Amino acid sequence: MGRLDNKGIIVTGAGSGIGRAFVNGFAREGAKVGVLDLDPAAAEKVVAEITAAGGQAIALAANVTDRDAIRGEFTRFTEWAGRLDVLFNNAGFNKPMPFLEVTEENWNAILRVNGWAVLMCTQEAARLMIPQGSGKIINTSSVAGRQGYPDFTPYSASKFAVNAITQATARALAKHGITCNSFSPGVVVTPLWDALDKDLMEMGATSKPKESIDSFSADILMGHPAEPEELVGTALYLASSDSDYLTGQTIMIDGGKVLI
Ligand SMILES: NC(=O)c1ccc[n+]([C@@H]2O[C@H](COP(=O)([O-])OP(=O)(O)OC[C@H]3O[C@@H](n4cnc5c(N)ncnc54)[C@H](O)[C@@H]3O)[C@@H](O)[C@H]2O)c1
Repeated sequence: MGRLDNKGIIVTGAGSGIGRAFVNGFAREGAKVGVLDLDPAAAEKVVAEITAAGGQAIALAANVTDRDAIRGEFTRFTEWAGRLDVLFNNAGFNKPMPFLEVTEENWNAILRVNGWAVLMCTQEAARLMIPQGSGKIINTSSVAGRQGYPDFTPYSASKFAVNAITQATARALAKHGITCNSFSPGVVVTPLWDALDKDLMEMGATSKPKESIDSFSADILMGHPAEPEELVGTALYLASSDSDYLTGQTIMIDGGKVLI
């Protein structure tokens, strides 16, 4: 018996990093997982990993900002899995810019994926969950949803938005038996940091490879940045019936980087 036997769970941005670790963890606990990503080849690769280990998974290809594509893939998923029990709104990205140089284009691009898409994908999941009378929405926030960082201003704003959307979703959907929570990683060693490291060096904010992740990790009480696997236990709790009475909350899983 797994903790998630036959639960239908979609994770967006599951072709890499945190999402990839989550879908592998959920499949090990018996869930039927939808591996949704902008990059279809990455999603297929993760599905192959899961099925090779004996799990059940389907690749879903969509940009989380595209309502028609999301609706189509969520429908295809429920036809395959039978139902949608849990949606993890996890896809996100950052493109740092110095505070005084942030452009409207940079703001709009980040807020569209990290903010708007969380709300829109939640609406699309709710269409499927409301008739079931149950469901869980889980959003990936960040320590940048608790603190504003000057090189990450739109990103921080987008993650504060995630926390607000989490509270609003919890209040809007409780009467349908649907809960909503988010979790906030601090520094997690994923390809997102490879891109950040390069961008911050090009901006002149750092001068050598890995300086950004090392300096951002310096105040983590646990003494090291997380590997994606270190977040899986909390994700399992949020996806399973263990968290049925929890809603509207943002859980910090940051090794004690931000205390709030
Ligand atoms: N890595 C960290 O230190 C860290 C810390 C806090 C929060 N987060 C958040 O965790 C989430 C996952 O980050 P990660 O570190 O695993 O990053 P990652 O870059 O390793 O993976 C992100 C995945 O999302 C996909 N994606 C990006 N934009 C998409 C879109 N528009 N539609 C569909 N898929 C899209 C990418 O193709 C990629 O596979 C993000 O929301 C990020 O903001 C990461």
